[in-house]
Amino acid sequence: MNADGRTRLHQTPAWSALAKHREELAGTHLRDLFAADPRRGDGYTLQVGDLHIDYSKHLVTDETLRLLRELAAATGVSGLRDAMFRGERINVTEDRAVLHTALRAPRDAVIEVDGENVVPKVHAVLDKMAAFAERVRSGEWTGHTGKRIRNVVNIGIGGSDLGPAMAHEVLRSFGDRDLTARFVSNVDGADLHEATRDLDPAETLFIVASKTFTTIETITNATSARQWLLDALGDDSAVARHFVALSTNAEKVAAFGIDTANMFEFWDWVGGRYSYDSAIGLSLMIAIGPDRFREMLDGFHLVDEHFRTAPAEANAPLLMGLLGIWYGNFHDAQSHAVLPYSHYLSKFTAYLQQLDMESNGKHVTRDGEQVDWQTGPVVWGTPGTNGQHAYYQLIHQGTKLIPADFIGFAEPVAELSGELRAQHDLLMANFFAQTQALAFGRTADEVRAEGVPEELVPHKTFEGNRPTTTVLARELTPSVLGQLIALYEHKVFTQGAVWNIDSFDQWGVELGKVLAKRVEPALTEGAEVPGLDPSTRALVAKYRELRGR
Ligand code: F6P
Repeated sequence: MNADGRTRLHQTPAWSALAKHREELAGTHLRDLFAADPRRGDGYTLQVGDLHIDYSKHLVTDETLRLLRELAAATGVSGLRDAMFRGERINVTEDRAVLHTALRAPRDAVIEVDGENVVPKVHAVLDKMAAFAERVRSGEWTGHTGKRIRNVVNIGIGGSDLGPAMAHEVLRSFGDRDLTARFVSNVDGADLHEATRDLDPAETLFIVASKTFTTIETITNATSARQWLLDALGDDSAVARHFVALSTNAEKVAAFGIDTANMFEFWDWVGGRYSYDSAIGLSLMIAIGPDRFREMLDGFHLVDEHFRTAPAEANAPLLMGLLGIWYGNFHDAQSHAVLPYSHYLSKFTAYLQQLDMESNGKHVTRDGEQVDWQTGPVVWGTPGTNGQHAYYQLIHQGTKLIPADFIGFAEPVAELSGELRAQHDLLMANFFAQTQALAFGRTADEVRAEGVPEELVPHKTFEGNRPTTTVLARELTPSVLGQLIALYEHKVFTQGAVWNIDSFDQWGVELGKVLAKRVEPALTEGAEVPGLDPSTRALVAKYRELRGR
């Protein structure tokens, strides 16, 4: 108990019960759990929309799941969830509502913020985006010289980049192959250089994406992009045909020189990392078209409704969040791997890193008290088959417990044919084989039975008992992508609610930004920067020396 009489999370009965249960389960192997319940493979599954979610290969029993649900109940997860959906200001440190769910609500829904129904304005922006996307796709919207737009370059960073960049990659085969879409985020000039070096400025549309429109990387890149355009087209009036903005900040957009008629708006109740289904998705909508974009939003909405209404026993995001807590807080797991078996999901885990780590990388509670429990995990991973030949060794036989999500599809994308289509079975054979090996391993006796010399037996023995979730869908469509992202959004929400942290602020990124602004004059002008520590001062001096300054 605290000085003020409040019980801390790890002192609650629900937490203690889980800690005790964890001790009781110590030494239980997944092999034992499957032997005890032959129907476990079918029973520990959920179907949500198109997603078949198998959690049978987790170190849990019915009792574990019951205790985890009790923890969720004791920590008020459903209450906070309902407050979020109602538009209450659950982002306490920024005093904001958290309503990314309104971005995919149907046209006739009513969701109020401060007494105003926000759904009509969400749809007004979606309609404006759709009209613009169609004009670009059809060639009606031309560049300054009258040439058709062939290239779209999104300039943004973090939530204003990762979402559209990831989704564009995922839905490549649904896109217009005659349009090039590129994503520039890094303030390293090489990023913009490589993205534009082979493009014709007269055929290029820049989409400047920034919620605040103050992010230094984005404004710097956008300024350089404008110069690149003007150097080629030589006329300030060209900017209006080649630059549009996605932002919540009309004033800053106008100050940058983009006509606010060419601005697509969103609102402060949409967090950056929860924003790619808002105006931030314009580049994606241009690539795949408004209808596909709408299908994606419907996929999001389907899982929103599932999370909002499904009972705890059958609530997939809740379950996935609680499983993460089971490993992070009761098994000392430090990280969580997300391993997609789809080339198109190559940027998926990078996207989830921001979603999860910026949301739940917090060290104080919503009331500002230091936490005494672990919060968000390190999220990492790349497409599975490549990982198999790189870091899977550590997951299989290393000393760290790394729970992992395996995401795969029964069908390859429709565009694949012939031998490339046939390769899909091999891809998926790997997918299934890996989760089996991780769960069940190979015992020393099994290794010996294969005639392996005794001195190699320990090396070739796989302990197994490595937990995984398998998410399987028929095909990777826009709707399925929306379903997957909403699944993870609400998983992250669940964990933040249990840990009693604010999953919707990101103060931790501020200090570095402030210091970077302070350090820059030291690099360029050799200015004396007050408060520079001795290590950094010496490094800055070395940098200047290397640059001949
Ligand atoms: O610095 C972190 C951050 O604020 C992210 O949360 C956000 O997604 C990103 O920067 C970009 O911010 P903006 O969209 O305002 O440019």
